[in-house]
Amino acid sequence: MIASLDDNRLIFVTGKGGVGKSTVTAALARGLARRGERTLVVETDVFSAMDGLLDIELGDHEMVDVEPDLQAINLKASECVVEAMARLIPSERIVRTLLGNRIAQTFFEAAPGVNQFAMLEKVRDLHAEVDEQGEPKWDHIVVDLPASGHAVTFLSVASTFRNMIKVGPVAEAAGKVADIVDDRSVSSIVAVCLPEEMPVNETVELDGKLRDALGRGLDVVLANMVHRPPLDGQAARDFDLLVDSLEGAGSMVDALLGRGADGTGAHRIRRIIAGLQLADDWHRRDLHHLKRLRESLEVDVYDIPVFYESDGLSVARRMIDFLDRETRPEPQSLAS
Ligand SMILES: Nc1ncnc2c1ncn2[C@@H]1O[C@H](COP(=O)(O)OP(=O)(O)O)[C@@H](O)[C@H]1O
Ligand SMILES: [Mg+2]
Repeated sequence: MIASLDDNRLIFVTGKGGVGKSTVTAALARGLARRGERTLVVETDVFSAMDGLLDIELGDHEMVDVEPDLQAINLKASECVVEAMARLIPSERIVRTLLGNRIAQTFFEAAPGVNQFAMLEKVRDLHAEVDEQGEPKWDHIVVDLPASGHAVTFLSVASTFRNMIKVGPVAEAAGKVADIVDDRSVSSIVAVCLPEEMPVNETVELDGKLRDALGRGLDVVLANMVHRPPLDGQAARDFDLLVDSLEGAGSMVDALLGRGADGTGAHRIRRIIAGLQLADDWHRRDLHHLKRLRESLEVDVYDIPVFYESDGLSVARRMIDFLDRETRPEPQSLAS
């Protein structure tokens, strides 16, 4: 498992749509639960894929038992707002006073942030929940952040509110949420990205923007859907020799098989070699982008291979098994 994520109770998973954010969230959470850690998955995206990934039916905004030590909830923004209001405003009199208050009006005018703030406030509330023994109810809460919009805007909404509103219950709540989000010893921010030009650029940018907005960067980057090399070890070295020797006149293949016109054995073998080369090129292309990612960030980058499965649940299962093994932030982790 990813060691640096073990220490923090709260894990925010971010990334552009389609990079495998929900699959990673489900796999991380299942992996933690398998080891006996009480884990909660929080889905915030309106386009939730969590039902299929956890093999459950996740209604809106209700806690569902997935398996021993694993629960899940699909947060609905409007419900979070109602709950936050009820928590923040203890009496009708205060509600009325607040609604007539200039500071409160500023809060409501910031409407686009209100949903996001209410969701984070709900996460804070879940984080603070305790069991009968007074111990935290969950050892880990893994939050799948919305794909739409910018993760920085979402995660910095509490700081924004805190700067905007200085006194009263909302200011106090904003402070508490910001304290959790801004503190690396309380929460981890994981970015999922693909080994490609633009996603790498965006992830590096995300890290910088988080540092500017929250005073903290990413903790872990998971490069997902990395193509494995078609061959490894001695076979890979032999293949390199073979490819090199194909280039010049009197190559190894020529020596073994003869030059060969279309349709002959030599020609057919050359085509098979070209096929392997295609897979190898794909892997090398991924490595190139991953190298750039690692060089541009002072963050552990873990590679997750592409799993050739046709449904999300099978992909998630393969990913749990992969993450369950000792995972290291070096590129070689894929070859094992
Ligand atoms: N490592 C992987 N290998 C193969 N397919 C993957 C992998 N990770 C994710 N996928 C697939 O990619 C698609 C998008 O994944 P999903 O987790 O829903 O992305 P997101 O939440 O980022 O939009 C799904 O079909 C999923 O099964
Ligand atoms: Mg998703």
